[in-house]
Amino acid sequence: MEIIKTIADMKQFAAAHRGEGIGFVPTMGALHEGHLSLIQRSVKENAVTVVSVFVNPTQFCPGEDYEAYPRTLDADAALAADAGAAAVFAPSAQEMYPESYDTYVETGGITDALCGKSRPGHFRGVTTVLTKLFHLVQPQRAYFGQKDAQQLLVVQKMVRELNFDLEIIGCPIVREADGLAKSSRNQYLSADERQRAVVLSRSLNWAQAQMDAGVTAAAQLIDGMRTMIAAEGGDVEYIEYVSRETLRPLDTVQPCSMFALAVRFGTTRLIDNLFVD
Ligand code: PAJ
Repeated sequence: MEIIKTIADMKQFAAAHRGEGIGFVPTMGALHEGHLSLIQRSVKENAVTVVSVFVNPTQFCPGEDYEAYPRTLDADAALAADAGAAAVFAPSAQEMYPESYDTYVETGGITDALCGKSRPGHFRGVTTVLTKLFHLVQPQRAYFGQKDAQQLLVVQKMVRELNFDLEIIGCPIVREADGLAKSSRNQYLSADERQRAVVLSRSLNWAQAQMDAGVTAAAQLIDGMRTMIAAEGGDVEYIEYVSRETLRPLDTVQPCSMFALAVRFGTTRLIDNLFVD
């Protein structure tokens, strides 16, 4: 497996392999089984898989964990190689964003909802770096986790509206044995917080069971989830039931929607969601 560190080398690799069909998995590294599930799927569906490892400064808001974000390139490269990737692309922040850098890509509307409310500029950073990465890697398909459901929808919208010539593929959430969604940020949790954080998936499972039993009022389900999460000391940023097309809140249970939540345990902000179809 190749480790590519410059834009020039990435362009050369893409030119040599794009005819075979490139599958692409963009990541910020600290790879876990959630990332590996995307890489494995890409390896199955494409002749060549490229994984990017880049902690993207433009998607971190002031006061967030950009400096502290785990950087473990050697371990990530070994995991990507094991999963069958042909190359890891790990450019420097300086080459991606030289001092004079001043071009951004922005998707409107759905970036104002959910995480967009508390993380201004976050999605602009995501769509900007993905535009750059898509141009450099030239993939036929790119793989994203439903764990970051709003990100997946924003990327699908950008690719559709800007006519990018690639397919965006959403992949299911990979969870720990007790239900906590795998995340590079779980390592920030203390042992006690880690245990309490299980309430996120537990509250979503509870909502699913309530819907299975015929409950259709979103407010009733959200109230129940809020009570469960508060009982474990989680600091709720939002719990919403929204359309998966517009991300606007819905009152009653219906297809193509989701429950989405962001909750802090201590200083660690976790997200999770449940698709309803
Ligand atoms: P990162 O948080 O490293 O996530 C990379 C990809 O892995 C995303 O598509 C994310 O949804 C997926 N992923 C993370 N945890 C997962 C889980 N438990 N199950 C399934 N998939 C999971 O998301 C980013 O990086 C960045 O915003 C990026 C798209 C790379 C742009 O910088």
